Amino acid sequence: MSQSFNALAEKRRTIYALGPTLPLAEDEVIALIRTAIRNAPSAFNSQSSRALILLGEEHKKFWALTGDQLKKRVAADAFVNTEKKLAGFAAAAGSVLFFEDQQVVSGLQQQFPSYADNFPIWSEHSTGIAQYAVWLALAEKGIGANLQHYNPLVDEDVQQTWNIPASWKLRAQMNFGSIEAPAGEKTYIPDSERFIVAR
Ligand SMILES: Cc1cc2nc3c(=O)[nH]c(=O)nc-3n(C[C@H](O)[C@H](O)[C@H](O)COP(=O)(O)O)c2cc1C
Repeated sequence: MSQSFNALAEKRRTIYALGPTLPLAEDEVIALIRTAIRNAPSAFNSQSSRALILLGEEHKKFWALTGDQLKKRVAADAFVNTEKKLAGFAAAAGSVLFFEDQQVVSGLQQQFPSYADNFPIWSEHSTGIAQYAVWLALAEKGIGANLQHYNPLVDEDVQQTWNIPASWKLRAQMNFGSIEAPAGEKTYIPDSERFIVAR
């Protein structure tokens, strides 16, 4: 049954309790993510967003290397909680690592010098839109997700492990998998603080 956009937007939540089961074949999930990013808008249609899609053991490898980096920086007693959190992320089916290609950004700056200051900002907008598009596409299929930011701590390891081009700048990491427990309660600020309507 098709659902309205706003019903889908409401369905998309941050899900921390994720499991490894997917309702679709891995190839279908990969296609879903690729399509969502491909259709996301970008400044001047620059298509600066890039993604590394990790599944199964490769996904676990990402969270293991994140743990190795954090272990060097987090105090031993606090690391117990960090480890628990990371184990939760690793328990998911996969992750999408979102990048922005800085070669595209600098190319635009050279091509259109009068907008030079804006291209890095628009690139950040583009990745946000791409992330939301993927999050919604996953939610529509009943796949849970959460969004993390362990960049730049993990940038070098990611680049080396998966042979990522040097111009790809890591912006966010999204875990996805089966929904093992619902999202927490969410509160909303009053509309009166958020919107001004004039007509
Ligand atoms: C730009 C952005 C950055 C976020 N960063 C993190 C993060 O680093 N870790 C995390 O657990 N959640 C992160 N979140 C998720 C938010 O905490 C979450 O979206 C918010 O609390 C609203 O809950 P909902 O996603 O269930 O609607 C981020 C969300 C956005 C939009």
